[in-house]
Amino acid sequence: MARSNFGVEVARVRPLTDRINEYLLKSVDGKPLPEYGPGAHIAVHTVSPERGLMVRHYSLIGGDASEHDARDIYRIAVQRELHQRGSAHIHASFRPGVRVEIGPPVNDFLLDRRAARVLLIAGGIGITPILSMARSLARRRRPFEVVYAGRERGVMAYHDALADVAGDAAAFHYSDTAGQPDLVSVLARQPDETQVYVCGPTPMVAATHAAARGLGWEPARVRSENFGMAQSANARAFDVRLARSGRTVRVSEDASILDALNAAGVPVLWDCRRGECGLCPLNVVSSDGAIEHRDHYLSDEEKDAGDTLCICVSRTAGGELVLDA
Ligand SMILES: Cc1cc2nc3c(=O)[nH]c(=O)nc-3n(C[C@H](O)[C@H](O)[C@H](O)COP(=O)(O)OP(=O)(O)OC[C@H]3O[C@@H](n4cnc5c(N)ncnc54)[C@H](O)[C@@H]3O)c2cc1C
Ligand code: FES
Repeated sequence: MARSNFGVEVARVRPLTDRINEYLLKSVDGKPLPEYGPGAHIAVHTVSPERGLMVRHYSLIGGDASEHDARDIYRIAVQRELHQRGSAHIHASFRPGVRVEIGPPVNDFLLDRRAARVLLIAGGIGITPILSMARSLARRRRPFEVVYAGRERGVMAYHDALADVAGDAAAFHYSDTAGQPDLVSVLARQPDETQVYVCGPTPMVAATHAAARGLGWEPARVRSENFGMAQSANARAFDVRLARSGRTVRVSEDASILDALNAAGVPVLWDCRRGECGLCPLNVVSSDGAIEHRDHYLSDEEKDAGDTLCICVSRTAGGELVLDA
């Protein structure tokens, strides 16, 4: 673990939609919490009886409508996924007064405050950092527009808050009735100086990058944050044997090797938990199936060699993976 964590207390829980709750997390001693800018997120540590320690990342929303939060408050919104997973456990257990361990804010999705013009694109729960960016741009009277896509209005958290913050600069897209947003057209009508920030499901983020490429844009003009993990629908359970200790840990189809080792109390290093930082790779002794590399850290040569894998996202297609740990 690379950074020091600290405790906060759940101060308020507010349902935003059937599946999304907003949580206000308050400093336990009333002192200001570490500062952050739009796009930042925190790691929330939660321990469930079934799964042990689970660490999940949540974007800091920064305030409600046009008001920034007080310095002793962090605001997050969590969309509940399937039973027993981290988000479902948060929905089931976070009540006012509950103490929660979190990591300090990290920002891998920095808003360039000097950008001449900004286009924000949010899909579903990806609205969380985008709302924070929209509020920052509106307060500083910077030229921007924002596109918020979701299935229908009732499932889109902060729909009205975004309309309040952005006014005419906000466009809402309801895919149940209108299909997928035409991102090529949205990008094509932008002036040359527009910088794009997109956060949403993996296919939407990929479609935005593809639209920009197709229009011949410089790749740096599109910045993205991807909430979706590198899971595949056909992931299967397997055993990880730790060569040095001789222990064997079962990795279920819906957990990462890192989650399984954490739950079993095996000390391992990690930071980003999404295959980017390079802190978690372990050496592979053997694998009885192909290694499914899903990280963005190892080079193609390292992936082909199969000597190492990022345990936060990668897996084996076989039944047993032996690691040098
Ligand atoms: C920077 C960032 C900001 C985010 N902000 C928000 C936010 O504001 N609101 C929000 O609701 N969500 C946000 N997320 C997503 C959030 O962190 C969780 O991924 C989400 O809540 C789902 O967690 P879960 O435990 O319910 O689901 P799960 O699918 O169980 O959890 C996802 C985790 O499980 C592991 N996993 C599950 N299955 C597999 C598999 N087959 N192979 C490998 N690994 C697997 C992965 O390690 C992954 O970390 C953000 C994510 C990131 C990276
Ligand atoms: S924890 Fe960052 S690459 Fe795995």
